[in-house]
Order: sequence, then structure tokens, then C-alpha cells
Amino acid sequence: MVELLDENKPLHVIIVGAGLGGLMLALLLERLNISYVVLERASEIRPLGSAMAFSANILPAFEQLGMLPEIEKISMPIFNMDIYNNARQKVGALNMGRYRATSGYESLIFARPDMHHLFLSKIPASKVLLKKRVLSMEQNELGVMVRLADGTTCHGDILVGADGAYSAVRQGLYKLAEKHGILAASDLTSLKMGYMSMVGIAQPDPEKYPVVKEKSANFSRLIGEKSPYSYNTATVPGGRICWGMTIQLDTSKVSKEMRFKNSEWGPEANEIMIKEIHDFPCHFGGVVGDLIDATPKDLISRVFLEEKLFETWHHGRTVLLGDGATNALQDAVILANCIYDLKSNSPEDISAAFRSYKDQRYPHAKQQMEKSKNLGKILYGQTWSERILRYIAFNMIPAKTQEDQFLKDTVYRPILSFMEPPENRGSGSVLPQKPSERYEREKRAREAQP
Ligand SMILES: Cc1cc2nc3c(=O)[nH]c(=O)nc-3n(C[C@H](O)[C@H](O)[C@H](O)COP(=O)(O)OP(=O)(O)OC[C@H]3O[C@@H](n4cnc5c(N)ncnc54)[C@H](O)[C@@H]3O)c2cc1C
Ligand SMILES: *[C@@H]1O[C@H](CO)[C@@H](O)[C@H](O)[C@H]1NC(C)=O
Repeated sequence: MVELLDENKPLHVIIVGAGLGGLMLALLLERLNISYVVLERASEIRPLGSAMAFSANILPAFEQLGMLPEIEKISMPIFNMDIYNNARQKVGALNMGRYRATSGYESLIFARPDMHHLFLSKIPASKVLLKKRVLSMEQNELGVMVRLADGTTCHGDILVGADGAYSAVRQGLYKLAEKHGILAASDLTSLKMGYMSMVGIAQPDPEKYPVVKEKSANFSRLIGEKSPYSYNTATVPGGRICWGMTIQLDTSKVSKEMRFKNSEWGPEANEIMIKEIHDFPCHFGGVVGDLIDATPKDLISRVFLEEKLFETWHHGRTVLLGDGATNALQDAVILANCIYDLKSNSPEDISAAFRSYKDQRYPHAKQQMEKSKNLGKILYGQTWSERILRYIAFNMIPAKTQEDQFLKDTVYRPILSFMEPPENRGSGSVLPQKPSERYEREKRAREAQP
């Protein structure tokens, strides 16, 4: 257990949500020997989700943890992304040939359930409690408490909301912050759901889809011209093809039935969308329905891509992890660094740690949000102006400029400040990061010893 200077009581952290963000923080606290528990509403861990990618913006932290070989084993490197129209003609491509030389890392694509499984394997099962839906929270000078749907409560020193886009922790926190008059006005408006994706992982016949036998990822996107739908596919190890169908929710072409509200993750309510897109042409040949049919129905889930950056990240003993794959993991890395540097369990020290977390992360999260908004317009957008934007991006911007833009992102790489930094093997530069006072002090003390 980490000794805290002022208080005798060891720190205990409550993490709400066993998604990749919550589990990332859990495995970091495990390394730090800090006491924690993860509360997850699902009654079982199900292999839901589709393709996700990790690049130089997060892989260095995994390298520090010694997890890079395990991640490489469940991933495929991406060297290219092809874009098609619904006549299956190639209309654009993103070349990533210089990524490794510049950043020192490959861009890796994997199936979410595989990564989820890997993270879980690093955490004692006794610390991840299932069927624990958080309803509300309370906090004071002495601690923080959450109330669960099963009638129980859970107490700790720090509460971390890693419970996704419709976070119950965030809602509870914002109620408190509003009462204290410190909630940013923009945080009162609700999430604007820009896009909704239905995702799954097909296990198709390899003779029909010989592309699954290749060693690097075939990562493609098909954008419908007169349809609100677009989809992408990515091959991952094990002869599987991850797919995701995305629909823009605010276009008039979206049928009323499709504008449903977020409920539980799971297979329910997918049938309408499957019917609507079944006969969409597939660049591998056949129709996308063939891929859907090669996917176990109960492993098809929905993902909402929201477009909002919240301003209030913490209050008192409660702090939030952001949404978005790499973003949530970067949050977890910096939050773990700040918790490691905590001087005591006092409300003042905890607030100072959370302030430092937000100061370090906010500008980058904001930049990322802008970028994915624009990328979303180009890759999923179906309004008139978005189509023009796409035409310009694919036809008027030279490929090299596009790749340069992409490579610029590799400079930001949050790492664990309580471990030795990884070496930079790339030719590109890396942004400096706030060092840990505690780590430097303890390192000096170790080196001073005979
Ligand atoms: C089942 C699933 C499939 C996904 N598939 C994809 C995908 O294919 N592609 C993609 O890009 N992104 C996908 N995502 C989203 C992606 O995982 C996240 O955007 C990103 O990893 C950040 O994760 P997170 O941990 O912050 O949130 P999430 O991954 O959303 O995880 C939040 C977790 O909190 C739990 N939770 C929510 N409310 C409560 C509560 N009140 N009490 C207790 N627990 C609660 C949820 O059950 C969930 O396990 C998926 C998410 C989920 C949950
Ligand atoms: C992906 O597969 C398609 C269809 O088999 C092929 O035409 C394309 O060149 C492949 N793309 C990459 C990047 O391998």
C-alpha cells in the first residue's frame, strides 16, 4: 500500500465502469499498489465492440508497462486506409508508410474484446465487481460514497467516473457542482449524438474473404453517396473482420425508428438497422449483409459517437475520465500520475491533484475533439457541406500533406511519470511532460545509497 504523508489511512479509489478507460486506471493502480475497486453495471463481461486502434499517442505507456508484445500479438499493423464510394470505386486513401520511422511505433488495430480481455487479465478478478450499477454519489471532507441499484453503498477517498458517454457519476457530480454554483454553463446542455454505429466482428469463410490471411490490416471505409450510411471494415488476427456501420443521426434521411435513445449495450434493437443496410455493396464483394450474417447476433452492439467536450472534470473527491478510446486511456495515464504524486488524502491535496490532471489533459482533449469532429465530417458526414469537404480532402489535398497532418499527432505521448520513460526511436519530436516530483526524489535517494 502506498504510504501517504499526512494521513495514516491508506488511499482507496472507487472506479465506476469496467470499459477500457476504467480498466486502464485499475491496472495502473495495481502497479502502484494503491487500493481500488471497479464497479460495473453489466452482469457479465461480454465480447462486444469492434475494431479500435492504438498508436504512438498511447503505445509508449504500454511499452513502459512491458505490455507492448502482448498488444502486438492481438493486433495488426495498419499501413493504409482505403476509401470507397458505393459503386465500390476507390475515391481516396490515407498512406501511413512513414508512421513507424517518424514515431517509432506501428499504428495497431485490434478487436475491442481482445484488448478488454488483456486488460482484465492484469487485474485480480476480486477487484472487478459485476452487477454493480451506480445510481448516485455523495461526498464530504471525509470521503466519498456511491449508492448502487442493488441497495448497497461503497465508500472511498476518490471516486472516478469511467462509466462512458452517459456517465451516472458525471450526472451526480454535475448536480452537486450546480448546487455549489461552479458548473460551467455549457455542461448543462445535453449530449448531441452526432453518429451512431452498429458494430460486430465477423468470422467469415476465409476462402470467400482471402484478405483475412494477410499479415497487415486491410482497413477500408465505404461512404454511401445518397444514403445516411457509411461503413468500415478492418481485418484483425484470427481470420476475423471487424465491421462498423455508421449512421449520421441528424440528417433528414434517417428514419424515425432509428432515432432511438441510448439504452443498454447489447444486441436488442439492431434488427431495423440490419435490414436497412443489408444490401449495401461491399468492397470485398457481395453485400455487407454477408459480413453481418457471419457475425453471431448476440455479439452485435451499438456505439454512440457523441460530440461534446465537458468543461467540468472534477469536484471535491470525484473526477471523470473522458470518452473516446485513446482519450480515455491518456486520461487514465495522467490521472494515475497525479494520484501517485498525492501528498495526502486531504480534500485540498486531492483537489490539487485533480486540477493538475485537468491542466495537463484539457488542451489535448480539446484539440483531439476538434480533430475527430472534422475527421467525422469527412468520413461519416452526409450533409451537403460535408460532402464538399470530403471531395476537397480526397481530391485537392496532396497525399503527402494528409500524411504529414496525421504524423503531427504523434508528438503528444502521455507516459507514466512513476516509471522510466521509453526511448524515442522515431525521427519525430515528442512533447515534454510534467515530471513526477516524488519519482525524482525517490530516484535521487536510491542513487545516493551506497
Ligand atoms: C460494449 C461496448 C462496445 C464498444 N465498441 C466500440 C467499438 O467497436 N469501437 C469504438 O471505437 N468504440 C467502442 N466502444 C466505446 C469505447 O470503448 C470507448 O469510447 C472508449 O474505450 C472509452 O471507454 P470508457 O472506458 O471511457 O467507456 P466505455 O467503454 O463506454 O465503458 C463504460 C463502462 O461503464 C459501465 N457503466 C455505465 N454506466 C454505469 C453505471 N451507472 N454503473 C456502473 N457501470 C456503468 C458500462 O457498462 C461500460 O462497461 C464500445 C464501448 C462499449 C461499452
Ligand atoms: C483491401 O482489400 C481490397 C479487396 O480485397 C483490396 O482491393 C485492397 O487493395 C486492400 N487494401 C489494402 C490496404 O490492403
